[in-house]
Amino acid sequence: MAVKIGSRTLPMPILQGGMGIGLSLDRLAGAVASRGGMGTISTAACGFLEEDYPQDPQRANLRALDRQVRRARELARGAGLVAVNAMVATVQYADSVKTALRAGADAVVSGAGLPLQLPAIAAQVPDSAAALAPIVSSGRAAALICRAWDKRSQRVPDFVVLEGPLAGGHLGFSPQEVRSQRPVSLSALLKEVREALAPWREKYRRDIPVFVAGGVENGAEMARYMEEGAAGAQFATRFIATEECDASPACKRILLRAKPEDITIVKSPVGMPGRALRSPLIDRVEAGTQPHPRRCVNCLVPCKKLESPYCISQALIDAWHGDWENGLFFCGAKAGQIHTMSTVEEQMDQIITEWRAAQ
Ligand SMILES: Cc1cc2nc3c(=O)[nH]c(=O)nc-3n(C[C@H](O)[C@H](O)[C@H](O)COP(=O)(O)O)c2cc1C
Repeated sequence: MAVKIGSRTLPMPILQGGMGIGLSLDRLAGAVASRGGMGTISTAACGFLEEDYPQDPQRANLRALDRQVRRARELARGAGLVAVNAMVATVQYADSVKTALRAGADAVVSGAGLPLQLPAIAAQVPDSAAALAPIVSSGRAAALICRAWDKRSQRVPDFVVLEGPLAGGHLGFSPQEVRSQRPVSLSALLKEVREALAPWREKYRRDIPVFVAGGVENGAEMARYMEEGAAGAQFATRFIATEECDASPACKRILLRAKPEDITIVKSPVGMPGRALRSPLIDRVEAGTQPHPRRCVNCLVPCKKLESPYCISQALIDAWHGDWENGLFFCGAKAGQIHTMSTVEEQMDQIITEWRAAQ
């Protein structure tokens, strides 16, 4: 069942969520899009492998992003869509959005803050008809964004990603909410978000598809959420276990051997809770023995920089290299269930088969 996304059509109702730093670049995003889904490149320090990244990280990031979007679209061969995930909290937010649009991204998806300025930034690239989407974790955030976009830019989101408390990486909930034994369900959040979007669907006389994310286990679960009104689902952690995932083999091996009890909630230097593997870095931060960072690449607006307990960019880059001692290994709540390597084709086929069987 294809989904209409702005002026484009998504053949399969499956999104691959952005995974920074470096886990979802052109190879993974292009592979997912080539199977009819929406593949997402994470802009977070996406140029960290460029030669000049140490001297000029911002320039390296934008150059790499431009190349990655073009390459992912080539890999997609027109089958699915290529999106870019830009976090509002990043210093390079506006420049990343504009670079992605100029390079031909089909969609920009923004979270880690309220993307109130996204339509105004996108309007600076006049020829782009890319879809714009916020990531929200409540009906309240969805309503706020719609109100702002309507008032300032006379438009509403082309689709919405609803991220629940079981997602990986930074989470839009309080630490208590994500640590709770009975966290709010995606079904309840979906109802709330659809209700918040209803007046805007009516005003603009168009659907605003909602994709659920965070611990969606398989195609059968996706089918259940679709019965409840979702347009489809976004998956991230399971795509780490693919040949095409852009992480190093060492990083993938660490995430594949994770057990459910290894997964914890950390306080990110950005101030938000995040879900990650308990690793030596987390132990040192909690024990107060982790030295402050010595260098800052000025990546995130709400970071205390050299006063932070650790540099999140460096820790995520260390994780990419599979450095167990120093890395921060983001993962979803269901990471402990994924232990075997596969390919994007296998993952997509499995989700689609389970979804069709459950319909
Ligand atoms: C390793 C990892 C890194 C992530 N990085 C980002 C990111 O940079 N930006 C973002 O918006 N979401 C990020 N996420 C969240 C995912 O895009 C996604 O919405 C969520 O993890 C889906 O849940 P699942 O992993 O249980 O399938 C990350 C998730 C993981 C596992």
